[in-house]
Amino acid sequence: MVARRERAPAALRLLDCDILVEPGLLGSVGAIAARVAPAHRYVIVTDDTVAGHYGARVVDSFTGAQPLLLRIPPGESHKTRLTWASLTDEMLDAGCGRDTTVIALGGGVVGDLAGFVAATFMRGIPVVQVPTTLLAMIDASIGGKTGVDTPAGKNLVGAFHQPSAVIADPHALRVSAGFGVSWSSPLGPIKLDLALPVKREAFDKKQIFRIGFGTRF
Ligand SMILES: NC(=O)c1ccc[n+]([C@@H]2O[C@H](COP(=O)([O-])OP(=O)(O)OC[C@H]3O[C@@H](n4cnc5c(N)ncnc54)[C@H](O)[C@@H]3O)[C@@H](O)[C@H]2O)c1
Repeated sequence: MVARRERAPAALRLLDCDILVEPGLLGSVGAIAARVAPAHRYVIVTDDTVAGHYGARVVDSFTGAQPLLLRIPPGESHKTRLTWASLTDEMLDAGCGRDTTVIALGGGVVGDLAGFVAATFMRGIPVVQVPTTLLAMIDASIGGKTGVDTPAGKNLVGAFHQPSAVIADPHALRVSAGFGVSWSSPLGPIKLDLALPVKREAFDKKQIFRIGFGTRF
């Protein structure tokens, strides 16, 4: 997604899943979800940190009935069967049925967990992945791997469940690119979590890349 000579196209298609990458897309999540996964109810699953930054913007992007916003505490320690049970119980209590679409708004933890909720609720309902960390944008949200951790290990209970769309807004990385390590380049400052995948790609292909896309984060 990053190590390309030209700016990435606005939409790629992978396994019948739209992958949309564009600054500002968080304000269009509702409209895109209504197109790719129309539903009677929308449930946004997010964590407390991401909800504080982007929850209201994504909720406001839905016209008509307000989506249900379900928050979990942030962090890997909450990617568990217990959190899965609590989310599915909240959806049942709210009267959600098969005509529900899940919106996974957050990093890889939220994406894996909300994807697993969607894979299992009523034997499977649509999910739209809205990744907000770089790892989630370039890896976790793509490919349909969902699941939770168990005391025996990570990701040991899960399912493959392809998202109806992946909506990546690079503006979200302005906050999440928070390692605090950056350095100057002819393009301006480069932050660590943007630079790492560029470096890996460059070493894999044994050549130096000139980054040529227009958006600076
Ligand atoms: N399904 C897959 O194919 C796949 C692939 C790779 C990794 N994963 C999973 O991804 C998880 C790790 O994901 P991660 O690195 O995104 O961690 P994460 O989801 O725990 O997010 C890291 C922290 O950043 C915060 N955060 C997220 N977006 C933010 C934003 N825009 N601004 C500010 N804070 C933000 C979160 O609240 C959290 O505290 C692991 O559980 C891993 O197993 C899954």
